[in-house]
Amino acid sequence: MFRLAALAVAALSASVASATISCGSTGDSNCPSDAPCCSQYGECGVGAYCLGGCDPRYSFSLDSCTPEPICESKSFDSWDNLDSLAKNYDYLGNASDYDWVYSGTLLTDNGDLVLTMPNNSGGALVSYNHYIWYGKVSGTFKTSRDAGVITAFILLSDVKDEIDYEFVGANLTTAQTNYYFQGILDYDNAVNGTISSDSFENFHTYELDWTPDSITWYLDGESIRVLNRNETYNSTTNQYEYPQTPARLELSLWPGGASNQGEGTITWAGGPINWDSQDMQDPGYYYAIFRNISITCYDPPSGANIQGNNSYIYTSYTVTNNTVEIVNNATILNNFDDTGLNMTAGSSTATATSATNTAVSVPSSNGGGSGAESNQGSSTSSGSHVSSTGFSQGGSTQTGAAAVNEHVFQSSIFAVLVAVIALVVL
Ligand SMILES: *[C@@H]1O[C@H](CO)[C@@H](O)[C@H](O)[C@H]1NC(C)=O
Ligand SMILES: *[C@@H]1O[C@H](CO)[C@@H](O)[C@H](O)[C@H]1NC(C)=O
Ligand SMILES: *[C@@H]1O[C@H](CO)[C@@H](O)[C@H](O)[C@H]1NC(C)=O
Ligand SMILES: *[C@@H]1O[C@H](CO)[C@@H](O)[C@H](O)[C@H]1NC(C)=O
Ligand SMILES: *[C@@H]1O[C@H](CO)[C@@H](O)[C@H](O)[C@H]1NC(C)=O
Ligand SMILES: *[C@@H]1O[C@H](CO)[C@@H](O)[C@H](O)[C@H]1NC(C)=O
Ligand SMILES: *[C@@H]1O[C@H](CO)[C@@H](O)[C@H](O)[C@H]1NC(C)=O
Ligand SMILES: *[C@@H]1O[C@H](CO)[C@@H](O)[C@H](O)[C@H]1NC(C)=O
Ligand SMILES: *[C@@H]1O[C@H](CO)[C@@H](O)[C@H](O)[C@H]1NC(C)=O
Ligand SMILES: *[C@@H]1O[C@H](CO)[C@@H](O)[C@H](O)[C@H]1NC(C)=O
Ligand SMILES: *[C@@H]1O[C@H](CO)[C@@H](O)[C@H](O)[C@H]1NC(C)=O
Repeated sequence: MFRLAALAVAALSASVASATISCGSTGDSNCPSDAPCCSQYGECGVGAYCLGGCDPRYSFSLDSCTPEPICESKSFDSWDNLDSLAKNYDYLGNASDYDWVYSGTLLTDNGDLVLTMPNNSGGALVSYNHYIWYGKVSGTFKTSRDAGVITAFILLSDVKDEIDYEFVGANLTTAQTNYYFQGILDYDNAVNGTISSDSFENFHTYELDWTPDSITWYLDGESIRVLNRNETYNSTTNQYEYPQTPARLELSLWPGGASNQGEGTITWAGGPINWDSQDMQDPGYYYAIFRNISITCYDPPSGANIQGNNSYIYTSYTVTNNTVEIVNNATILNNFDDTGLNMTAGSSTATATSATNTAVSVPSSNGGGSGAESNQGSSTSSGSHVSSTGFSQGGSTQTGAAAVNEHVFQSSIFAVLVAVIALVVL
């Protein structure tokens, strides 16, 4: 059915997998100096751990993560090949070379980009490498279908400000909108929109228009939701709990209804995934078809600290809008041994699989999950610590806090990705 453009994914194992160290709000602590970068999934490492998703709050220091490539407006309306997309094992931060980085299995089909989710896999994740500090992103796509199958089109910052469009395959006429501030859990931010016709059979255009003052979700050109910053004020913390830091556009397809997900997530996802469904028989995987994607960057906010034109960095652990600085710092690591602390320190020959550093260098192979590779190796499904109500993160058993997170996070891409990773790591 689809042209196989990238199915020959090698069985890669990232660097020397010593015991992973967890970090982040549910992790043990900040990362140590020899594995200074706290990945999107809450684990410490070097190399790709320091690129997109690296959270400066929980890394060894604010400058452990590599600077974030500055926004670039682009449109993609013909996916004839995968040349603009780097596999996560190949990308070192040169956004001029590759507009996107991905994990999982992608295909092209008559000019469309197809995200796939083969049997028992974690699905696929595609992230735009140029961070957006306010802008409009537009996607014309067909979602996947069936219970437990989630298609997503979101903006996600490295400090987990998040603006979402999510689609649960059990209901093809509902588009779920949501947002998060710094990953803080909130039950009440989701709002549903109505899609005029079945989102699996038909292309629709979904847009997120993000300015310093408001976010508008558009569906086929019509505004279905507006969030004003002034509605998000928290008088206890004295701040606007409003997405306000440079974010990447992420397209993903992932198994919210996989058996290793928490109960709350599976329920939200519309129930357990059926890995023997019609799509699993033919073409043999769940899929979502992306036709047109466009990114329009807005000017930096007035009052922004502009000292250059190449990248964004954070100047304080509060990671609010006022702590973002635009600088000339490079964004590219020399190799998979390097970190933001010294981007040219390691051996020039180190690759994702031959890095000499003993720390891990590519975050647990997948994001929104990966394709078949996440299931390779006999250890993936054995000895799982995953309970029906909690995440297991990075191989370490979680405390009760994780179960709470799982329930509360529900539809947060971030949280669910952590769970997907657990499938891979264990
Ligand atoms: C940016 O570059 C300056 C000058 O080279 C350096 O001192 C600083 O640590 C860099 N900042 C980050 C966050 O990498
Ligand atoms: C990044 O990629 C661009 C485009 O391929 C290339 O011209 C440039 O030299 C690369 N930069 C580095 C530092 O490798
Ligand atoms: C989809 O969800 C909407 C809103 O919650 C609901 O009105 C509709 O009945 C649902 N459709 C199906 C097929 O479940
Ligand atoms: C949105 O619709 C889904 C059904 O598609 C339903 O399960 C969910 O509770 C709704 N969410 C909100 C916030 O109304
Ligand atoms: C919030 O901002 C919007 C748009 O600027 C404005 O129309 C509205 O009155 C404001 N609401 C409050 C509560 O200040
Ligand atoms: C405001 O922030 C406090 C402290 O983080 C939190 O407990 C509270 O739930 C927040 N209030 C709202 C309305 O989100
Ligand atoms: C998917 O894998 C499971 C075993 O893990 C198997 O029972 C099922 O038949 C497979 N589905 C298809 C469509 O091959
Ligand atoms: C996608 O973009 C192309 C070229 O800009 C345009 O002709 C086409 O109508 C768009 N397709 C959809 C489904 O929006
Ligand atoms: C940051 O947000 C505050 C409101 O919380 C606003 O007054 C200020 O201008 C913003 N600064 C930047 C650089 O966006
Ligand atoms: C970006 O900054 C560099 C160094 O200050 C300067 O040489 C260059 O002209 C600037 N580029 C643009 C597009 O402004
Ligand atoms: C980075 O590491 C290299 C190799 O060890 C060293 O020569 C260089 O001085 C270091 N750079 C900085 C800024 O520490």
